[in-house]
Amino acid sequence: MSVGGNAGTNAYAAILAGGSGARMGNPEKPKQFFMLGEKPILIHTVEKFCAFPDFQKVLVMCPQVWLQQTQDLIRRHCPQYEDRIALVAGGAERNDTVMNAIAYVEQNCPADNDTILVTHDAVRPFVSHRIIRDNIAAAREHGACDTVVPATDTIVESMDGRAISAIPNRSVLYQGQTPQSFNLHKLKELTSSLTDEERATLTDACKIFVLRGERVVLVEGDVANMKITYPQDMRVATSLMGK
Ligand code: CTP
Repeated sequence: MSVGGNAGTNAYAAILAGGSGARMGNPEKPKQFFMLGEKPILIHTVEKFCAFPDFQKVLVMCPQVWLQQTQDLIRRHCPQYEDRIALVAGGAERNDTVMNAIAYVEQNCPADNDTILVTHDAVRPFVSHRIIRDNIAAAREHGACDTVVPATDTIVESMDGRAISAIPNRSVLYQGQTPQSFNLHKLKELTSSLTDEERATLTDACKIFVLRGERVVLVEGDVANMKITYPQDMRVATSLMGK
């Protein structure tokens, strides 16, 4: 089953929920498990992706110690999607979690040279159907894409953290959101080619493509596709949820 274009091409989603949410300040419970309205944040996000028939599997990448609780939450809140979901342990860093998702697909799912992987932060529950659809299309057509919004604040560069070294032209700057979506084979190939020094500089998976001079196209994001990072973000998210 597929919605539009390239029917038969495998697509997988990886919901990145392997973080500890240190900036949220609740060491007992990572923020992706906080309630937002009637469901945990993670469940809102998972439902968005499971509603898309393009994805053969939706990988939910969570901390090893939360695997059982996550399974219980899925059973309680969205049992209709249980068969489409694979629960997988995340890694130490966000990129390690992405790598675990790649490894899971390679070892457990049918994949070929056209298979795509759509990765998304669990803590961005307001991602829209349109953004997911545009990511699937862009990853299939171009091999890699990033979801962005134009920068609204002036971005100031400081090399020493004390004084400005440059003020880049805001009209060419964007803020990265997620999803970030890739041709799985290409992502794996480029990742294997990285040196240890290059790996140490990685802030996100798109940078793997950028480092190798590969094109990553832009998908238009949305300011509503916010990332829940700090306690005050929960208040904004609650109000966006309309509760
Ligand atoms: N993430 C992940 N695996 C990690 C680290 C982060 O899957 N090892 C996920 C988080 O769960 C989150 C997303 O990546 O959904 C965005 O990361 P961020 O907001 O930075 O999450 P945390 O690392 O959890 O937060 P903090 O930096 O405050 O600890």
